[in-house]
Amino acid sequence: MSLQLQNDYRGAYHFSPARGWMNDPNGMVYWDGEYHLFFQYHPFGKTWGPMHWGHAVSRNLVHWQELPVALEPDELGTIFSGSAVVDWKNTTGFFPEEPGLVAIFTHHSELPGQSVCQSQSLAYSHDRGRTWHKYPGNPVLTHESRPDFRDPKVFWYERDHCWVMILACGQTVSLYRSPDMLQWTESSEFGEGIGCHDGVWECPDLFPLPVQNGAEGEQRWVMLVSIGDDGIHPEGSRTQYFTGQFEGTSFIPDEASQQVRWLDYGRDNYAGVNWSDIPAEDGRRLYIGWMSNWRYANMTPTGDWRGAMTITRELLLEYTKDGQLQLLQRPVAELESYRQLLLQCNHARLEEVEVALTALHLRSYELHIVLPAISSAQWEVLSNGQQRTVIGVDADRGVVYIDRTMSGDGTFHEHFAGRHEAAWSTTEDVRELRIFVDRGSVEVFADEGRTVLTDLVFPPASADRLGLMRATNEQNPPAWMSVAVYDLSID
Ligand code: FRU
Repeated sequence: MSLQLQNDYRGAYHFSPARGWMNDPNGMVYWDGEYHLFFQYHPFGKTWGPMHWGHAVSRNLVHWQELPVALEPDELGTIFSGSAVVDWKNTTGFFPEEPGLVAIFTHHSELPGQSVCQSQSLAYSHDRGRTWHKYPGNPVLTHESRPDFRDPKVFWYERDHCWVMILACGQTVSLYRSPDMLQWTESSEFGEGIGCHDGVWECPDLFPLPVQNGAEGEQRWVMLVSIGDDGIHPEGSRTQYFTGQFEGTSFIPDEASQQVRWLDYGRDNYAGVNWSDIPAEDGRRLYIGWMSNWRYANMTPTGDWRGAMTITRELLLEYTKDGQLQLLQRPVAELESYRQLLLQCNHARLEEVEVALTALHLRSYELHIVLPAISSAQWEVLSNGQQRTVIGVDADRGVVYIDRTMSGDGTFHEHFAGRHEAAWSTTEDVRELRIFVDRGSVEVFADEGRTVLTDLVFPPASADRLGLMRATNEQNPPAWMSVAVYDLSID
């Protein structure tokens, strides 16, 4: 590994482009043994610029291979976010011989002196996504009076034998239907008077999930909507979700004016959507997000590249104790095949845990913790003694948090440094946390994925220590702690 790679915050098990700028994940689709990950890409600079679709593939959701740019700007505009599907039944007519991939994306044009124009277009591939042909009839969907009209996410709706598209339209999302992806008819609009409207609505997604602890066969539809940075709220850009019913035309939320529900309580998980065409025998809903925030995304101090994805996560749905539906995120099981157990302390005294953790020098790993639910504790990761990222549980206040106030370089934006917390009350006897650390990021999965925080950090190169810290609430240190540390420096 080169010295440059060591010092530029590039994660070992997170995807980031070799060089250039990356934002949203696009067109995630599984086809012929490969998970495809396309992404908003500016190959010629380290800041957002004329958008292309970059491309990477993986066979295990852990190792990613970057491939040449898939889609380049053309006379209709640059290539904004969108999705990809397998056209199994050749509904488009693009695949007379065997099924292949269709990408549905936004063409964005903004000519000097003219207003912004966003329309939806298609491209197709006969060779496992390696080369793409833009459909000569592009665009396939336009709207005269909508400047924000983008980020099509398309899925096959089996009951009605049609494609459904969910599209971001400023402060709402629209649903469209089509028999062939070439002709689209609007079926409904959703969003007025519900959810968070602090910023422009972007990158929506809509998919069904079984309710884990519901009645036999019970399922619900989940809608994800990312909200752009309004420049006012310190949180910047973030992702909200709704649960409800969908029967082919409109989305009916479970409650008319439900509280806003966030996917992630850290600052750096945006524009994520789920993978298309995961085989039925697998059955998982797989998700990946862009690990940054529009508030400072263009300023982060990385090397020749900028932008990384979260780890891939499985999405699950369950009822909380008070009968609310809640979305859960769990690290994909594949990660467990690539990690190496380095340390395990079961039900140990704190002094023992402290000594064991202090002996380690690591920057890419998983830290697994179990402690009594009534106690508070703090752990430091990516620490050199002066700079550190702190993860903590405060049992009295019922919260879990990441504190990146002193995590390294935070000078590039006044809103970067800070402490981000999420409610975590429990009636269980113990609390469990899985913490994924990877040189420039920390992802905390608390309570089996019911509460998730994702934060970027930019620690000094020397910050490779981890350890226990004194808890904020000194009255209630844990009587014992179980800790496992797994190496994930897989490259
Ligand atoms: C979300 C977004 C999308 C758009 C893309 C442009 O981060 O603003 O709405 O398609 O990024 O790169």
